[in-house]
Amino acid sequence: MNLILHVWRQKSYDDAGRMVRYQTKATPDMSFLEMLDVLNEELLARNEEPIAFDHDCREGICGMCGFMINGVAHGPKRGTTVCQLHMRHYKDGDELYLEPWRARAFPVLKDLVVNRSAFDRLIAAGGFISVPAGSAPDGNAITVPKPAAETAMDAAACIGCGACVAACPNASASLFTAAKITHLGVLPQGQPERHDRVLSMVAAANRELFGSCTNIGECEAVCPKLIPLEVIGRMNRDYIRASWTKRA
Ligand code: SF4
Ligand code: FES
Repeated sequence: MNLILHVWRQKSYDDAGRMVRYQTKATPDMSFLEMLDVLNEELLARNEEPIAFDHDCREGICGMCGFMINGVAHGPKRGTTVCQLHMRHYKDGDELYLEPWRARAFPVLKDLVVNRSAFDRLIAAGGFISVPAGSAPDGNAITVPKPAAETAMDAAACIGCGACVAACPNASASLFTAAKITHLGVLPQGQPERHDRVLSMVAAANRELFGSCTNIGECEAVCPKLIPLEVIGRMNRDYIRASWTKRA
C-alpha cells in the first residue's frame, strides 16, 4: 500500500521543528515501526537524516515507544502500543500525521523522541517499597487477599509510556501516578509508606509541571494497558486521608 506521512522533524530541543511530507510503501503484515524502519532505510540511502523514534522491546511491554498518529496517542487501536500496531489497520492512500508527545514536562529531544525523565523522578519520589537490609523474606510469609492481588496486578501493568499525559488536555500525569500508588497501596507490603508515598508523589507531579486531573478521561481511552480511571479515585482518597493524618 502507498502512504503519505507527515512527520514532525526537530533536530534538537532548541530547534523550532516542522512537519515534513514523505511518500512510502508498506505491506499489511508490517508493524507501524517496521514501516518507519523501511522509510528510514530509504532516507539513509538518499543521505538524509533518518526519523528518530523511541523503541526497545517491540512487544508492548517496555513502554519505550509512543507518538501521536493523526492526533491519537499510540494510534487508533485501543489497548495497543504503537509497536504492536500493524499496517493492516490502514489502507492504500492513507495520509498519516506523526507527532511527538506534547507536554511541558516531556520536552522534545529529537523528531518523535521526548524526554520522559520526569516519570523517573516521580518514581524516585515514592514509587517503591523500602526493604530493610537482611535476607529476603519468604514469598509466602505475607498473605495477600485475592482482590488486592488482582487490583495490584492490573495497576502494575502500567508501562510508563506517557500516552496518558500526551492525550490529556491538562498534560496531567494522574493516571500514571495513580497506577503506581494503587499498585503499591493495596498490598500489605506497601502499607507502612502508603501516606508518605501519595503525598510525595503528588507533590513531585506538581513540581514537574504536570497539570491537574479534571476527569476528562482521555488518558484511559489511549492507555495501551487499559489502566482504569478508578485508580485516580483511589489516589485522591489516599491523598485526602494522608493530608488529614498529617494535620491531626
Ligand atoms: S497509565 Fe497507561 S498511558 Fe499512562 S504511562 Fe501507564 S501505561 Fe502509559
Ligand atoms: S517498544 Fe516496548 S512497548 Fe513498544
